Amino acid sequence: MIDLVDVSKTFRTPGGEVHALDHVSLRVEPGEIFGIVGQSGAGKSTLIRTVNALEKPDSGTVTVDGAVISELKGKELREARRRAGMIFQHFNLLSSRTAQANVELALEIAGTSRADRRHRATEILELVGLSDRAGAYPAQLSGGQKQRVGIARALADNPSVLLSDEATSALDPETTRSVLDLIRRLSRELGLTVLLITHEMDVIKRICDSAALMEHGRILEHGPMDQLLTTPGSRLAAELFQLGELPPERGTTIIDVTFTKQTSSEPVIARLARDQGLDVAILGAAMETIHDGTQTGRTRLEIPAATGDQVEAALSYLRSQGLFVEVVR
Ligand SMILES: Nc1ncnc2c1ncn2[C@@H]1O[C@H](COP(=O)(O)OP(=O)(O)OP(=O)(O)O)[C@@H](O)[C@H]1O
Ligand SMILES: [Mg+2]
Repeated sequence: MIDLVDVSKTFRTPGGEVHALDHVSLRVEPGEIFGIVGQSGAGKSTLIRTVNALEKPDSGTVTVDGAVISELKGKELREARRRAGMIFQHFNLLSSRTAQANVELALEIAGTSRADRRHRATEILELVGLSDRAGAYPAQLSGGQKQRVGIARALADNPSVLLSDEATSALDPETTRSVLDLIRRLSRELGLTVLLITHEMDVIKRICDSAALMEHGRILEHGPMDQLLTTPGSRLAAELFQLGELPPERGTTIIDVTFTKQTSSEPVIARLARDQGLDVAILGAAMETIHDGTQTGRTRLEIPAATGDQVEAALSYLRSQGLFVEVVR
């Protein structure tokens, strides 16, 4: 579990003060995959750096797995730091060491015996699917393989938290998907809590249970994915499932219908047209089929010029199907 309460951090630069974190409160539940998105300079890296104590907040507290990491020092701090492993955009592997030796290094620093290091590194490399490349140097590995070594190194010392700062940004889309799926699998198998930052909405859609949007050092929105998607006016929801521009005003009613955990959006729309006798037009749709085969996303529908009663009937019908409906115009 990760808990930030009222955390602030200001950097003093020649250009003036930068409020990198401005009263940030955030809670990541045990075993959850939590994604943070936001533009460059929003404070995402600073936030994650307070969680592994690379950055000390000016005020507020950061608790990781019961330890108030923002207030610890010396040996206690070093111990607490071991609760969180971190992966990076550019992998940060030592080029002079093999995959196996890179993973062992993390344990060397932790003071693990040579035999235990070897055993644990072999075990964790197998878990990330890299047993056959254990003797390879970073230069001999693909980007995806390098990140798997990065993940193995981060998890070698059995942390309860995995932190990821843009870990898939340097990878192509297919490799990104496989690394994300690996993170999800490990999170489920090992009960890992994952806090990741990304600028890619696809990353959030693919693996996150919850997400937050950051801007100018503040958290603007946060919550479980299905809750965010059904929050009227949510910016994260709009960015996750983009529906494009509205058509010119033509006397019609435009609604956004949010599907969460549906097997398909089509029958509902077809039935709306048939049962209500409305020629509904689909203006846009952004759907994602998630790992369990269900669909999540939004569809923008245009209901032709109709009486208020007909529109109301259509809205009630959709809501009776368990869908979240927002009248856009
Ligand atoms: N050590 C530092 N000294 C001075 N300013 C800093 C320092 N670290 C971060 N900042 C500033 O704090 C703000 C937040 O930086 P941060 O790296 O957390 O942003 P970010 O959201 O991770 O951005 P990006 O998406 O570009 O990685 C920025 O304005 C940055 O310039
Ligand atoms: Mg950053």
